[in-house]
Amino acid sequence: MKLITTADGSKSIFLTDIEESYHSSFGAKSESEHIYIQHGLLYKSENLDTLTVLEIGLGTGLNAFLSFIHGANKNIHYIALEPFPLPFSIIEQLNYSDCYNLDNNQFLQFHDNNWDVNTLITNNFSFLKSKAMVQDFTSELLFDVVYFDAFSPAKQPELWDKEIFEKLYKLMNNEAALVTYCAKGSFKRMLKEIGFKVEILPGPNGKREIVRAIKI
Ligand SMILES: C[S@@+](CC[C@H](N)C(=O)[O-])C[C@H]1O[C@@H](n2cnc3c(N)ncnc32)[C@H](O)[C@@H]1O
Repeated sequence: MKLITTADGSKSIFLTDIEESYHSSFGAKSESEHIYIQHGLLYKSENLDTLTVLEIGLGTGLNAFLSFIHGANKNIHYIALEPFPLPFSIIEQLNYSDCYNLDNNQFLQFHDNNWDVNTLITNNFSFLKSKAMVQDFTSELLFDVVYFDAFSPAKQPELWDKEIFEKLYKLMNNEAALVTYCAKGSFKRMLKEIGFKVEILPGPNGKREIVRAIKI
């Protein structure tokens, strides 16, 4: 595991064994802001004051931290799945708070809290991290936004199976949005077969297209 600096100055992790990084080398922060925040959270925030968010793959916690920053005027219930947590010694070296001139404790609180315990980060942001794999995850709560941020289909094909997306579809409210960086043709066809409306959106730097799938 190596700490790397991406093109926008924000740090990320590179896993040497599978040769895959947690974010785009063109910019971790800009990728996350573009895909998950702009086209996921803020898109759904236009019509909702209270949002439920499910993240597949908490990893560094960047998406959770950015949701906290950008969703400050909304009520957010955030659940993140992470069966393989990063060591705290690595997390401490990430520079996401610096990117926003915030105290690093604001970021570290996403990692400091206990697993499977709902924590109030603020009065309007609740956060729960679970070690459940997406394959095993169940919930009575339905979600308005799903951040699907697993490793790529080439590196972790089992996470891109139809069964997983059928399950996520059932876990979503009507009109909910699933956002992801993957825009492969076979993936888009599978989403349509399940019943999603598939929107192709321009990607962040270094990526032509991304996908937003709406439950209809
Ligand atoms: C691309 S990285 C995560 C990026 C993360 N959102 C971030 O901002 O750092 C993929 C993440 O999915 C996690 N993961 C691997 N297998 C998983 C599974 N079966 N269910 C849920 N998450 C999984 C990995 O441990 C890793 O943290």
